[in-house]
Amino acid sequence: MSCVKELCDSRTLTSIPSNYVFSTNLNDQDVVVTEAEEVIPAIDFSLLTCGTPEQRTKIVRDLGKACLEWGFFVVINHGMPESLRKAMLEVCQDFFHLAEEEKREYMGKQVLDPIRCGTSFNATVEKIFFWRDFLKVFVHPRFHSPQKPPAFSEISWEYCKRTREVARLLLRGISESLGLEDCYIDKALQLDSSLQILTANFYPPCPQPELAMGMPPHSDHGLLTILLQNDISGLQVQHKGRWVHVNALPNSFLVNTGDHIEILSNGKYKSVLHRAVVNKEATRISLAVVLGPSMEATVTPAPELEDSHNPPKFRGMKYKEYLELQQSNQLNGKSCLDRVR
Ligand code: SIN
Ligand code: FE2
Repeated sequence: MSCVKELCDSRTLTSIPSNYVFSTNLNDQDVVVTEAEEVIPAIDFSLLTCGTPEQRTKIVRDLGKACLEWGFFVVINHGMPESLRKAMLEVCQDFFHLAEEEKREYMGKQVLDPIRCGTSFNATVEKIFFWRDFLKVFVHPRFHSPQKPPAFSEISWEYCKRTREVARLLLRGISESLGLEDCYIDKALQLDSSLQILTANFYPPCPQPELAMGMPPHSDHGLLTILLQNDISGLQVQHKGRWVHVNALPNSFLVNTGDHIEILSNGKYKSVLHRAVVNKEATRISLAVVLGPSMEATVTPAPELEDSHNPPKFRGMKYKEYLELQQSNQLNGKSCLDRVR
């Protein structure tokens, strides 16, 4: 199964092959609104780390409100140098531009293999393919990197270390916003050995974007996902029954809560569905860094968030087992969260 990039490079496409047709016409099926109508909340990260106690209290409250109402927020003033973000996007782009033989050693791997690239989601079992190539790398607790491009390892190490720090500080704020000790998530889910996965997504221009899908609706398995994209939009977020088309905002990260925040918060903060659509004009690249619990941690709702009106909504499951289940293609279209309710 060759990648979408190779398909596009091999000839001039005026239509998409039938196995990429996801929908008869996306534009007719779903209500999509722009951020002019629905604005994703912004969180000023600097207030979380060096604000006055009053500013911190307010930003924790804003963070809780964003988690409750959206499950998505934009992080500004995060302190990550623009040069590093740009270098990371570029080196991922360079990876996708490697010759197919140079990527072959990472293709066709198992879902929990530490370095894996491919196309769609699982092109060996899918009937309909997505307009997306990907590279997935496990970067913590053990750091992995493809050997090419040569700069990948150094840049991704720094980028992943810094996104991990941002995510952990956000999780402190989220813990507090739930009325828990700020280090609750850190301790209960053993974040010193948290699983961190970097996924780079490559969506080439598509001749019929209304028929294809870059990434189908899904929720993320971890605690938080930190998303960086080049200046091409494509992410859509489910909000109040509609899809909100997210603008690509310069200098910011887009962050969303994942399944394990929903479990830990006993259903208070939802893991929201999102998808990626494609476009005719330009290649879109997005980098999603997922920070999860330790693979060995068993995650249950925080006992402090349970009472006689709120019995535990989820049973405990080891994060490693959850991941295996989520990636196993045994879900028959059901959300993985439904399997632990
Ligand atoms: C993702 O959901 O992991 C990424 C979606 C995107 O490309 O924006
Ligand atoms: Fe996602």
